[in-house]
Amino acid sequence: MSRYSAITGWGKYLPKQVLTNADLERMVETSDEWIVTRTGIRERRIAGPEETTSFMAIEAARQALEVANIAAPDLDLIIVATSTPDYLVPSSACLVQDALGARCGAFDLQAVCSGFVYALCIAHQFIVAGTAQHVLVIGSDTFTRLIDFSDRNTCVLFGDGAGAVVLSASDRPGGLCSFALGSDGSGYDQLYVPAGGSKTPLTPDLIAAHQQFVKMDGREIFKFATRVVAPSIEGVAAQAGIPKSAIDLVVLHQANIRIIDAAVKRLGIDPAKVFVNLDRYGNTVAASVPVALCEAAEQGRLWPGAYVAIVGFGAGLTWGAAIVRWTAAIKGIAPEVQLAEPVAIR
Ligand code: ACO
Repeated sequence: MSRYSAITGWGKYLPKQVLTNADLERMVETSDEWIVTRTGIRERRIAGPEETTSFMAIEAARQALEVANIAAPDLDLIIVATSTPDYLVPSSACLVQDALGARCGAFDLQAVCSGFVYALCIAHQFIVAGTAQHVLVIGSDTFTRLIDFSDRNTCVLFGDGAGAVVLSASDRPGGLCSFALGSDGSGYDQLYVPAGGSKTPLTPDLIAAHQQFVKMDGREIFKFATRVVAPSIEGVAAQAGIPKSAIDLVVLHQANIRIIDAAVKRLGIDPAKVFVNLDRYGNTVAASVPVALCEAAEQGRLWPGAYVAIVGFGAGLTWGAAIVRWTAAIKGIAPEVQLAEPVAIR
């Protein structure tokens, strides 16, 4: 009998503290008008001292387990996609495993903004290989801890958060239908943290020079993102055996509304099919795609049979795309609402 991997649970956590564009106007030379027109972002969430990467991951995971209606000991694997783990050693996944009371393997995965898509694809492989029944896949980042809040090039873009899904084995066709992953390390310095790794350990001088923070070539990242997104979706749609027009919802990494608009235009997909929440959260790195998926489910924009295209892209450079055929009924939402035309939320 064929095995399929279906998303059976979803959850999210966003920190309490909101940082608006007006707040940023008081911190660096910028304006609400510049940020909104160049990025689409209006506000983002900033993690407090207690809201660590594992804390947010655990909160999102608890919701996802509840929706999936499974207990933590039923999990066979936990993957936390993050580039801001609580500690360099050990992994945040182990902190999540312990807090949840799970009894399974757990590891972190670092592919920056593509991390969740990478993790979902690995979970899928475990499930279709028959070695796991339920895998918890989390994207969680406290990326603002790596941001220099005196650098207007980067500080307006990012926020913190976590999203989680449970991927479960199923004998019903659907779930993750196709995927493609990519990388191009020749662009490693287009978005990177120069110091604090094994190559350049931190020193007081490096800290004084702000080398522990993210440096970014925004224009190059922008060009890369607009180059990879549309062909990635076309590739995974073809692999899944569906025309682009069959895609019901597009969930792209929420980096910049202009990247999303360019990709949608190139794809020729109805903009009403594209999910956008970056206005409220900014770029939450590995959390971006699962938080968007979770909100799409909560808003009734996913229904059994719907085809969702998901794409992550970012530092590395990395990118990853997948087609998921949604199989779960959305609790608390009547079937007729679930089948209604999606509503644009921009
Ligand atoms: N407020 C006001 N002015 C600003 C700001 C700001 N916050 N930031 C930059 N500027 C200035 C620049 O200094 C520049 O001034 P200059 O012409 O005097 O040099 C001017 O605005 C235009 O700068 P550009 O870089 O041309 O602006 P652009 O339209 O490209 O927008 C942006 C910049 C928003 C960063 C865009 O390039 C972008 O979104 N790139 C992708 C970044 C991204 O998504 N990164 C995350 C990837 S995911 C991951 O892996 C973490």
